Amino acid sequence: MTAPSRNALVPFVSVDNMMKLVLHIGVERMMAELAAEIEADFLRWPLFDKTPRVASHSEVGVIELMPTSDGETYGFKYVNGHPSNMKKGLQTVTAFGLLADVATGYPLMLSEMTLLTALRTAATSAMAAKWLAPKGARVMAMIGNGAQAEFQALAFKAVCGIEEIRLYDIDPAATVKCARNLAGRGLTVVSCTSAEQAMEGAEIVTTCTADKQYATILTDNMVGSGVHINAVGGDCPGKTELHRDILLRSGIFVEYPPQTRIEGEIQQLEADHPVTELWQVIAGQAAGRTDARQITLFDSVGFAIEDFSALRYVHSRLRTSGLYQNLDMIADPDDPRDLFGMLLRAGAAQAA
Ligand SMILES: NC(=O)c1ccc[n+]([C@@H]2O[C@H](COP(=O)([O-])OP(=O)(O)OC[C@H]3O[C@@H](n4cnc5c(N)ncnc54)[C@H](O)[C@@H]3O)[C@@H](O)[C@H]2O)c1
Repeated sequence: MTAPSRNALVPFVSVDNMMKLVLHIGVERMMAELAAEIEADFLRWPLFDKTPRVASHSEVGVIELMPTSDGETYGFKYVNGHPSNMKKGLQTVTAFGLLADVATGYPLMLSEMTLLTALRTAATSAMAAKWLAPKGARVMAMIGNGAQAEFQALAFKAVCGIEEIRLYDIDPAATVKCARNLAGRGLTVVSCTSAEQAMEGAEIVTTCTADKQYATILTDNMVGSGVHINAVGGDCPGKTELHRDILLRSGIFVEYPPQTRIEGEIQQLEADHPVTELWQVIAGQAAGRTDARQITLFDSVGFAIEDFSALRYVHSRLRTSGLYQNLDMIADPDDPRDLFGMLLRAGAAQAA
């Protein structure tokens, strides 16, 4: 067999190489840089192709495809959400994704995205909080201490200047793990035994739990005026975290309304309940937080443009980092119309 041609090869970023890249750049710096990339793409929001993600639901979870394009580059992510996986020793969320050249349709890069999703989700949350949270917020409650939690805590430190994290999880082992991983990283970490305790003195609360039901992680009486809520875990039909009454008291900010109305906390509200698109706040077309007493809610579900930004960030560092392998992924016959001939020649070469 002859070696694959240049057109056949697609750079692939493995989990091993992604970890090397993150450790080389530094996790906090990378999330701050991702937040800036995502913010820059939110400023270009109108020119992106946008569609609610394509979801395939089952009794136990969901598998989703998240495509978008800016006209020059196309990207998609494959991601699952299976809250019951943890009991089987598997993760709730795993992902991989691809960038392609719109001009030719040829892939530019294939990448692991389980780590990259945690990084981009935390970067998006912190970027949204930069626009919406009360000025000078220093204390964040972190409810749900699973896979995403440390990334959230460190992104809020890097982007928003959070100094104290107050942890709570229904499973104390998750809180122990999270506190251990955050030790020595410049945050004051307080482990709590209830969500109420975690909320004490918190100006920001992040909910990042996984349960396939209408859960009530926060009740109305737990949320005082002026708080910013970063609701990450409610991201599927029938899977929410906040009591409806909190939503009715909050200024609600979303990524892409047609997707969030299906998947976000606002699935609990009327279909025409007013919400503000985050990109409009960033672009100066809509107000963010209007006063110090307002409760702001970022009803995050995760949108394709955030993954696109993250993939482009990784792609832009391929050449300098060298942290990829080439995959023989695209069949590349010498004569583009002679795909069958390529197969025949390979057969002949094998037989020889
Ligand atoms: N919005 C987004 O962009 C986005 C991105 C990634 C993940 N998510 C969602 O975030 C959630 C968390 O993801 P993960 O990968 O960290 O999951 P995970 O399974 O690793 O962790 C979830 C944690 O929530 C805890 N928990 C469950 N019910 C709780 C409750 N009532 N009170 C307190 N803690 C509770 C569990 O014990 C677990 O430790 C998932 O629902 C996932 O779908 C959203």
